[in-house]
Amino acid sequence: MNPTNRLNLISQFFSLTDAHMLSVYEKLGGYEMAKKAIREMKPDAVEAEVRKSKLRGLGGAGFASGVKWSFVPRDSGKPIYLTVNADEGEPGTFKDRYVMERAPHLLLEGILICAYAMGIHKVYIYVRGEYLGPIQRLREAIDEAVAKNYLGEKILGTNFNLEVVVHQGAGAYICGEETALLESLEGKKGFPRLKPPFPAVVGLYGCPTLIHNVETLSYLPFILQEGGDWFAGLGTETSGGMRLYSVSGHVERPGVYERSMGITLRQLIEDAGGVWRGRKLKAVVPGGLSAAVLTADEIDVTMDFDSLRKIGSMGGSGGVMVMDEKTCMVRALYTTMRFFGHESCGQCSPCREGTGWVARILKRILDGEGRVEDIDRLIDIGQFMGGTTICALADGAQMPLLSYLKKFRSEFDYYVKHGCSLVESEPAGVSN
Ligand SMILES: Cc1cc2nc3c(=O)[nH]c(=O)nc-3n(C[C@H](O)[C@H](O)[C@H](O)COP(=O)(O)O)c2cc1C
Repeated sequence: MNPTNRLNLISQFFSLTDAHMLSVYEKLGGYEMAKKAIREMKPDAVEAEVRKSKLRGLGGAGFASGVKWSFVPRDSGKPIYLTVNADEGEPGTFKDRYVMERAPHLLLEGILICAYAMGIHKVYIYVRGEYLGPIQRLREAIDEAVAKNYLGEKILGTNFNLEVVVHQGAGAYICGEETALLESLEGKKGFPRLKPPFPAVVGLYGCPTLIHNVETLSYLPFILQEGGDWFAGLGTETSGGMRLYSVSGHVERPGVYERSMGITLRQLIEDAGGVWRGRKLKAVVPGGLSAAVLTADEIDVTMDFDSLRKIGSMGGSGGVMVMDEKTCMVRALYTTMRFFGHESCGQCSPCREGTGWVARILKRILDGEGRVEDIDRLIDIGQFMGGTTICALADGAQMPLLSYLKKFRSEFDYYVKHGCSLVESEPAGVSN
């Protein structure tokens, strides 16, 4: 493992002025790895480096990228598409915005490398609707790259062609789920598809489609520069490299931190200045709102996908939300479940009914009208929500629900019994 846990790969561009401009990016060595791939490497050789790198998908599911590439059939006679997931809807996650705003050419270079390796000639970047700044930066960067023939036809004097299109979403969390994203791109309502078939085989317009998160693709230039083995060595046994952690909540210095997959949660919180105002840590969500909450006793876990899974949570999107001792866990869970209830697409009953039902019960508890049987009912509802739906939104709602209730049960019981919070001074009835 990288002994220092630190290395500025993607994040080296974050603090530089004008690194979003092609001229500056080129001065920093930009597009050299795309040139190397296209001019000097066979597509198979690029893919082999990605497999060696142990690069995991950094959008949420953490699937091994090299393995995903191997699922895409190259001989179907249909075009292969790449869709870039820039929806960044997971609460607590804001690192893709940094990449698109501050290093759009790095993402384009990663796209170029991936497209060349997979024989892809058309790419759609699906960007969260509210991200007007990043969308503008991406469009400007694409224009610059086309003008310099990094994109377009006969790229860099070869026979390789690549078109990149930016598509602005319309603000639905569910459209970050990869098959809902495809439906939305096709101009339909963003309803997740039944799987199998998986998008690698039947994706956009029924064609083989690779779907990757912004950050995942942005690591490809570094993997080609230093080699897959080098990247793998920066992380843990099964999760290669570094990743961008969005750290928010009750820390002194919230922000995006690029650290090893092998860093402990404790160290990451310390790097973000520690818990603010000299207070004690109460809880942390380690991987975006859909991840199970951890207590202060669990923060010696390393942040790789498998270690977090082993303790019942997940690395997810790398959104780390820190809560201090004054946080009311009843209110925090209500806010969480209200979000999932609002964003459920409504296709599957356990999700549509379950998330809303839970949010309504929690609201009643916050309003001082909780009933003794409420907590067990919440657990009951939570138990039937997971693993029963078309997509993972309900699993993502189940994880916080059951973990908050299990780890902070006494706070919920207290609220029901007394009609007010164990930790907050506000009276009951102030919830919205
Ligand atoms: C409800 C839901 C929302 C999701 N939102 C996002 C998102 O905003 N951005 C993202 O990259 N992945 C998101 N994902 C994960 C994607 O479905 C998919 O796994 C990912 O884009 C694959 O890219 P990767 O392999 O590079 O991680 C979401 C998944 C679910 C179930």
